[in-house]
Amino acid sequence: MTSTAAATAVDPIAERAAVAVAHPNIALVKYWGKRDEAMFLPVTGSLSMTLDIYPTTTTVRLIEGSADTVVLNGHTAIGQAHTRVVRFLDMIRARAGRAEHALVDSTNAGPTGAGLASSASGFAALATAAAAVYGLDADARTLSRLARRGSGSASRSIFGGFAVWHAGEGDGEAGDLSSYAEAIEGDALDPALVVAVVDHGAKAVSSREAMRRTCATSPLYRPWADSSAADLDEMRKAIARNDLPAVGEIAERNALGMHASMLAARPAIRYLSPQSIAVLDRVLALRAEGVAAYATIDAGPNVTVLCARADAQRVAAALVELGDFVAPTVAHLGPGAALVTGRER
Ligand code: DP6
Repeated sequence: MTSTAAATAVDPIAERAAVAVAHPNIALVKYWGKRDEAMFLPVTGSLSMTLDIYPTTTTVRLIEGSADTVVLNGHTAIGQAHTRVVRFLDMIRARAGRAEHALVDSTNAGPTGAGLASSASGFAALATAAAAVYGLDADARTLSRLARRGSGSASRSIFGGFAVWHAGEGDGEAGDLSSYAEAIEGDALDPALVVAVVDHGAKAVSSREAMRRTCATSPLYRPWADSSAADLDEMRKAIARNDLPAVGEIAERNALGMHASMLAARPAIRYLSPQSIAVLDRVLALRAEGVAAYATIDAGPNVTVLCARADAQRVAAALVELGDFVAPTVAHLGPGAALVTGRER
């Protein structure tokens, strides 16, 4: 083969497959509640930091078969996990005017389904790889809108660092166009997040069902949503002025308020375990000792602790002292979703 021929030859594998990597994000102002379930439009805006740990790597390969195959962490997915991915691919195919089926192979380096945002990294990686392989010309904002349709919080994992996801306005298509995530300036603030894994298991109630039930039945939901809008404004200002204690205080109260609204749902949803409470107590004690450490908790028992980079090892050591049930990992700000091979965006 001449060098010219080599340069112009189409690589059939690169044309038919794309690989993307995305990282989880932890919300400092939470997304909890949808105003439009079908379009994944949130009741409130939210704000997160993308982490540099637990990446998800997803390959989407076009195949000749008559159905999609989904492999998650080495196991063929069935039931709801399979359906969620197939529906997502259907949406991408409809937009791209394509019909080919795909083999989706996704590996998550962190604990899946335990409230550590594996669906965020998962759908951010899937959106990025699927858009590439089906030839959608999607910029980052569009990718965040697409990822949102797989899992709301995935919209934020398209971006590295701090990201805000705008609630947007209206329902249906108007809502879809206006509800996207974008990166926000927060370069000066470079905190650590100590992830205290107290339980690796999948949760008893999915976050989707839990947020649905909270919205529908909790008398504390509306007050939380109203206060969360104010938290978002204050959080953006606190990040802009590089004020870690304010960021931590807002994040902690926002998360505890979200869990309070769940506890008041009927029937109640309680993700916090005795181990979670032990970590919360230790965080309070650290603050009393003069360490600026603040907790946040997603839809699961695991607690993440925000602190200054310089304090991360001290915080992690304090959590280790609680006993074998805590396995702390230190994370920092991580990158946005990116293609590894295949077509460039
Ligand atoms: C508690 O994004 O997993 O982590 O949109 O139904 O897929 P769906 O929900 P999901 O919910 C995440 C909720 C949260 C808070 C957050 O990440 O903002």
